Amino acid sequence: MKKRKAIILAAGEGSRMKSKKAKVLHEVLGKPMILRVLQTAQQAGLTEIAVITGHQAQQVEEALAGQDVVFFRQDQQLGTGHAVMQAEAFLEKDADILILYGDTPLMESRTIQRLLDQQEASGAAVTVVSAQVDDPTGYGRIVRDEAGKFARIVEHKDATAQQRQIQEINTGIYCFDGGALQQALGRIQNDNAQGEYYLPDALALILADGREVNVLQAEDAGEFLGINTRSQLADAQRALQRRINQRLMDEGVTILDPNSTFIGEEVQIGMDTIIRPQTHLEGKTVIGENCEIGPCCRLTDMIVGNQTQIQFTVAMESKIGDETKVGPYAYIRPNCVIGDHIKVGDFVEVKNSVIGNGTKISHLTYVGDSDVGERINFGCGTVTVNYDGKKKYRTTIEDDVFIGCNANLVAPVTLKQGSYVAAGSTITKDVPENALAVARTRQSNLEGWHKK
Ligand code: UD1
Ligand code: CA
Repeated sequence: MKKRKAIILAAGEGSRMKSKKAKVLHEVLGKPMILRVLQTAQQAGLTEIAVITGHQAQQVEEALAGQDVVFFRQDQQLGTGHAVMQAEAFLEKDADILILYGDTPLMESRTIQRLLDQQEASGAAVTVVSAQVDDPTGYGRIVRDEAGKFARIVEHKDATAQQRQIQEINTGIYCFDGGALQQALGRIQNDNAQGEYYLPDALALILADGREVNVLQAEDAGEFLGINTRSQLADAQRALQRRINQRLMDEGVTILDPNSTFIGEEVQIGMDTIIRPQTHLEGKTVIGENCEIGPCCRLTDMIVGNQTQIQFTVAMESKIGDETKVGPYAYIRPNCVIGDHIKVGDFVEVKNSVIGNGTKISHLTYVGDSDVGERINFGCGTVTVNYDGKKKYRTTIEDDVFIGCNANLVAPVTLKQGSYVAAGSTITKDVPENALAVARTRQSNLEGWHKK
């Protein structure tokens, strides 16, 4: 097998985005598009990868920090051909050089593998991936001769009205024989509508040298959407989201409205779970089987067991067990371990706490920095008072405790097993096992007060 190297072009400004941020740093489903392109190349087995940076070079290089790539700077963005010229030292005569544009984040690695294999099998000097699209506006067109063979690529801005009718476009993905690319690069001219050195012109030069240009027609044009505008960014986001939702549905997850369900690519969901509309599942979230999630949930880095129901809830970096009900309007903040058969009801916030099995926290309650046992009943309006302005303190509540409504538990404090707290109490001392703590003033009635 020939040696394979890749160059990813990411120096352009992307002026059509109307952004202060370099185009390739815009995110598609939470990941900068340049990182997606790089990871796709890596998945296709490439290990020697160069990235051309220029516009906001430092930020682009930072976004790829820790990746095994070499950077070349293109200080002035004089076109895609000029960008590749910056990596001249990286080119090798006897290697196949894959070129990818940093603004095509939907490409799949198996397509790149197919391109590399075709290039090698065909013995051509270059293989370019083309796609048939309904609206080719903005793309370079593949111009073919009478025999249907590749003649050249014409950019949209340079194309005649007739050429603009061509719906076969250049995807911007090529595999060059290193030697052929080296020979063509220096001869690219910039006498065109944009005054740029176009990489696609290398193909016509290679053809004129009497060498073969091979066109690989893509099966799915959607994979090669080049992002030039915000609306294309939204299209890409939707396409990727659709791909993920489709995979999950194929694996046995019910997604009631895929158009309004946003699931990250690392999220795992068990069979027969139902995802209701307007739900966002992010990061490394794992959800078990037979759950019902949504409507309107945002779960980030959550681990959820089986048969659990969560609705109208924001939850992050925590665990929830089996057959537990959360929401509506619950807020689970980082570092919670919420067990099985639990209810975390409306307007309940839980933070940095362990909640034992069978406990009910049904309404209007704050549980922070607490170790909560099993089968506890939190009355409406319970507050763990965990912060004195300087330090946070823990509250410990042992099994089978009953807390009346509107109680304040001033930490550090322990409610021992089986104890009761009277409604309206402010608890500042530990409560012994099975005791009832009453910490409120007695009611006195002033007879006839209103008439006086
Ligand atoms: C390019 C192709 C076009 C193709 C389309 C596919 C050229 C001249 N045209 O057009 O045939 O149909 O992609 O999406 O190649 N870049 C640099 N340095 C530069 C200019 C661009 O690194 O000087 C990078 C950009 O950051 C971007 C990529 O190259 O990642 C493509 O540049 P862009 O300006 O978007 O090219 P298009 O006009 O879309
Ligand atoms: Ca583009």
